[in-house]
Amino acid sequence: MGVNVILNLLAMCTLFSSSFASSLKSAITFPPLAPALFVIGDSSVDCGTNNFLGTFARANHLPYGRDFDTHQPTGRFSNGRIPVDYLAMRLGLPLVPSYLGQAGDVKDMIHGVNYASAGAGIIFSSGSELGQHISFAQQIQQFTDTFQQFVISMGEDAATNLISNSVFYISIGINDYIHYYLLNVSNVDNLYLPWSFNQFLASSVRQEIKNLYNLNVRKVVVTGLAPIGCAPQYLWQYGSENGECVEQINDMATEFNYLMRYMVIKLGRELSDASIIFCDVFEGSMDILKNHQSYGFNVTNEACCGFGNYKGWIMCLSPEMACSNASNHIWWDQFHPTDAVNEILADNIWNGRHTKMCHPMNLEDMVIRKEK
Ligand SMILES: *[C@@H]1O[C@H](CO)[C@@H](O)[C@H](O)[C@H]1NC(C)=O
Ligand SMILES: *[C@@H]1O[C@H](CO)[C@@H](O)[C@H](O)[C@H]1NC(C)=O
Ligand SMILES: *[C@@H]1O[C@H](CO)[C@@H](O)[C@H](O)[C@H]1NC(C)=O
Repeated sequence: MGVNVILNLLAMCTLFSSSFASSLKSAITFPPLAPALFVIGDSSVDCGTNNFLGTFARANHLPYGRDFDTHQPTGRFSNGRIPVDYLAMRLGLPLVPSYLGQAGDVKDMIHGVNYASAGAGIIFSSGSELGQHISFAQQIQQFTDTFQQFVISMGEDAATNLISNSVFYISIGINDYIHYYLLNVSNVDNLYLPWSFNQFLASSVRQEIKNLYNLNVRKVVVTGLAPIGCAPQYLWQYGSENGECVEQINDMATEFNYLMRYMVIKLGRELSDASIIFCDVFEGSMDILKNHQSYGFNVTNEACCGFGNYKGWIMCLSPEMACSNASNHIWWDQFHPTDAVNEILADNIWNGRHTKMCHPMNLEDMVIRKEK
């Protein structure tokens, strides 16, 4: 590890020990409902991986993080928390550190690790034009390393017991559209119809879940794709007139979600001692867009931070580019929702508070079921 990494680690440790811990303490419930939360995915759940990589896809500068617990940027692509932060607290766990942001001590990883990397896709090369990222398969490999460290430090039985009771959260796939399919990488548009491209992605995810199962993972949450056709970047790029979403892009996300849900439910029946659920972020997000007034959002298609039409042309680079208060915005930047939206989505994943998003059950029902 370089000096930079060490300095960053020191900075993060300082954050963790001060205001961070005190602001969270009150909300954490004991005992936890799961021993740990492991996160695999892209920028929707990256909590700092990309701070350590050479890439344009980074959120380690203000105004990112300005409404977070520490009011500091962490690498999260939001003004505040991301869904897995809210879910960690629901489980009674501390916020989970990023794999590259901790020193590799088992005690730092015992409540979970976040491997997610902005720009990553299911396909290895998705997002490569942005620079470095840790792809889906590489993240699973990193988890395998973590598991082996657990075995060495606590023994096989204890490690297996910990893993099989822990929750795995997988949020990935959008970059296979944004940074692969829609860019027509390797002439993919001519070679595959969306349907067969989707099938390829779903079968890759299925295989990786089976790999996790072979490592004793038994509780998995797979989230679908968000309505990215409504994101400010696409409203700008496709010349949306009055903020109408780009149907062509949303249709692809809907198809992916449909296939993924089918795959997840089928796999859940096959691996009958596992609980695998699919949570449709598209449905939950469309509910927020449609009923935005009742949720207190009055800015629905313009990002809080960015530049150009819908603030979708240039990415969020500096505090001056941001609105003064993001709490009435749905979109924080070109692609990512605000903290307020992330909280609603997390509530839906937890217990379907506003919209039923998860099939065949919510996360809360999954973790409180004793017999599985
Ligand atoms: C995709 O790229 C190929 C060449 O690599 C080109 O022939 C084809 O027209 C492109 N498709 C679209 C939709 O742009
Ligand atoms: C949204 O509401 C705030 C006050 O709550 C107001 O200042 C702002 O102008 C409104 N924005 C739009 C686009 O209506
Ligand atoms: C933003 O606005 C909301 C609602 O009007 C308010 O509760 C909140 O305190 C404001 N946040 C900041 C940082 O000013």
